[in-house]
Amino acid sequence: MSSSSKWSAFWLIVIGVVIGIILTATTVGTVQVVGSETFCGGFCHTMDAVTYSWKQGQHARTPVGFSAGCSDCHLLNETNHPLKPHDYLSLLLHKGQAASISGFGQIMGTISTPQKWVKERPELSKRVIEWMTGNNFHNCRGCHNLADMYNPKKPMVAKMHAAFIDKPANCVMCHKNAGHNYKGADEWIEKNGTWPNPADAWVQADATTEKK
Ligand code: HEC
Ligand code: HEC
Ligand code: HEC
Repeated sequence: MSSSSKWSAFWLIVIGVVIGIILTATTVGTVQVVGSETFCGGFCHTMDAVTYSWKQGQHARTPVGFSAGCSDCHLLNETNHPLKPHDYLSLLLHKGQAASISGFGQIMGTISTPQKWVKERPELSKRVIEWMTGNNFHNCRGCHNLADMYNPKKPMVAKMHAAFIDKPANCVMCHKNAGHNYKGADEWIEKNGTWPNPADAWVQADATTEKK
């Protein structure tokens, strides 16, 4: 081993130990923040509300029987694998924030209850939209090639989108429920104060549709 690589190894270990200590400290701090809850506590249930709103959005089920999963929209250049908790965290801590350990602790604390999630969500959504804007909605365009849009029943739609083929376009500005539709989750939380159950998402959505 050259002496410079010995030094890099040394620093890698030092950095690893420091990160380990900080992570442990943050974890302990977070557990205190969420009171008697365990490490995951309410925080991991945030996934229930996110999944619930995805199931009520435009891509979990479609007229053609296709379902776009979390990673289809949230991860770049990945084969489709389910979004694991660490992907979920790095998604919330996108970009510059990925390195921010305090951001990690802060997010754990800020979305530990349904009410906090509702309150914090505009900020969380904004981060995701900023990431998507930054890559010009690469994931959406990967499945929806605007140059190949064809719907004889609505010819104006393809024509209109053709204007964005080579230009930036914020898909979500017009397609607000493309990924998630929060209406049902928000109503559930408002009424019951608890996290909605993803297993009920379609039952609830269908009940609402049938009433109309
Ligand atoms: C069709 C694309 C698409 C799919 C599929 C999708 N999302 Fe999203 N997601 C978005 C978009 C667009 C936003 C930003 C706008 C919004 O909040 O709806 C977003 C926002 C988010 C946010 C931040 C706001 C919040 O709800 O807390 C999280 C977390 C998230 N998604 C996780 C997931 C998970 C987990 C899944 C799978 C169960 C998933 N997404 C599936 C497109 C998608
Ligand atoms: C993995 C592929 C995939 C990804 C990623 C994806 N979509 Fe889709 N999308 C589809 C399919 C398939 C359909 C259903 C087509 C049909 O029913 O004819 C669809 C349907 C739609 C529709 C029509 C929904 C309706 O109910 O009329 C819109 C709008 C849309 N997508 C926008 C988006 C946006 C915006 C994004 C990015 C946030 C996105 N899609 C990401 C595959 C995808
Ligand atoms: C300025 C608003 C606007 C923007 C930006 C926009 N769309 Fe649309 N999109 C529409 C409208 C309006 C429709 C027609 C909706 C309908 O007929 O119900 C539509 C329809 C669609 C459909 C369904 C087509 C069909 O025939 O059913 C897809 C898929 C879609 N858009 C994808 C995208 C993607 C991907 C982007 C970003 C690259 C995007 N849109 C950007 C307004 C927009």
